[in-house]
Amino acid sequence: MAEVKKKRDGFGSKLGIIAAAAGSAIGLGNIYRFPCEVGENGGAAFLLFYLIVVNLLGIPVMLSELVIGRRSQSNSVGAFHKLAPNTKWPIVGYIGVLCGFLIFAFYSTVSGWTLEYIVKSVTNSFHGKDLATIESEFAAFHDMGWRNVMWQGIFIFLTGFVVFRGVQNGIEKTAKVLMPLLLGILIILGIRSMTLPGAKEGLSFLFRPDFSKITGKVMVEALGQGFFSLSLGMGVLITYGSYVKKEDNLTSTAFSVVIADTAIAILAGLVIFPAAFSFGVKPEAGMGLVFNTLPMLFNQITGGYWFCLIFFVLLAIAALTSTISLLEVLVAYLSEEMLLKRTWATVIACAGTMLLGVFASLSLMSETPFALAGHTVFDMMDFLSSNILLPIGGVLIVIFVGWRLGKQKFFEEVTNEGALKAPLKRIIFFIIRYLAPVAIAIVFISGLIK
Ligand code: PHE
Repeated sequence: MAEVKKKRDGFGSKLGIIAAAAGSAIGLGNIYRFPCEVGENGGAAFLLFYLIVVNLLGIPVMLSELVIGRRSQSNSVGAFHKLAPNTKWPIVGYIGVLCGFLIFAFYSTVSGWTLEYIVKSVTNSFHGKDLATIESEFAAFHDMGWRNVMWQGIFIFLTGFVVFRGVQNGIEKTAKVLMPLLLGILIILGIRSMTLPGAKEGLSFLFRPDFSKITGKVMVEALGQGFFSLSLGMGVLITYGSYVKKEDNLTSTAFSVVIADTAIAILAGLVIFPAAFSFGVKPEAGMGLVFNTLPMLFNQITGGYWFCLIFFVLLAIAALTSTISLLEVLVAYLSEEMLLKRTWATVIACAGTMLLGVFASLSLMSETPFALAGHTVFDMMDFLSSNILLPIGGVLIVIFVGWRLGKQKFFEEVTNEGALKAPLKRIIFFIIRYLAPVAIAIVFISGLIK
């Protein structure tokens, strides 16, 4: 077990933890996965349930993770060793580490695409093309399996490079610059998208719920998407929480991150759906929904060349601040529990992810051997991590805080030993102890039965 005596690296400022946690939360999950999920699960009905999940469960689960991290000053496995010695609780941390590998492996595939699309933007390759051409080029790109693997490798390398430089230098600085820029460009794109002919249909798809569409599957998908988008249930926020200073306000951090993440997801929906309906891209088009609709949208904008380029650069950086957090979970575990040097921990975690990730990338080719009954390895990794491991991790984390750590220690942590009021602490603790475990379990089990 880790008894790391040297001073741990940490975040430099209050804005640092919010930027880093929001950087982890905001990523392809918001701009790529969220529209796909909304599109495949019937639009507004999914959105409604998603909003309930992130508000009611997201904040308590996030706060639980931050509390565990800051109190233990440890990585996601070591945290449970410290707070519950000689118990089985560290398993929760191991699930998180496993989940980190899985998510990083398929997430880096799509992250790699952002690099391909940056190159396409620079060479102005979408200019004047119609939807059919853009779609066929996207499909052709998937069939170049090794080209996908190459970009994936470059992306994993970039992530390793930032993480290697350490928390304050790498993660915090990268995250701080990006968010306002991303927000700005999404607002401009959203305005253009909503003023396209036929955009209204996209808006009502997103906002007018058809309640008959809320099924067990939709609920599980929304739960999984909520956890995925907020980076919950696998130890990112335990690890980041361990770098937070004693004076920082954990509750307001959790609120800020959830609000920022939700705002970006909805904005992404406002960019994608009006445009998709206007151009005739099907809402259930999955991966193509984003990667085909956006180039079409850029073709409709004055200065589209620059918007396209800036957008994909920002998307790549948003993905990077998320992969950084995934890798940080692995590196913190390997360096503190396995006592590896940070450099070696980074190299080993990146190499392991790459090995797994190759299968995710190659499974998207049309003639791939890496698929079973129509389900690609990519989809299986996504499903297993987002819809199964994250909710299980989330449930165990709230049970840990609600029943094992207990009210008094939770209050101590959220009030900074009495220095803060934290007026919502009672209600949040009630949700952590009773509501969240039951709610997550019901949604999860009902979805699985189906
Ligand atoms: N939340 C990230 C996103 O939305 C993905 C992620 C999931 C990152 C889990 C870390 C942990 O893109």
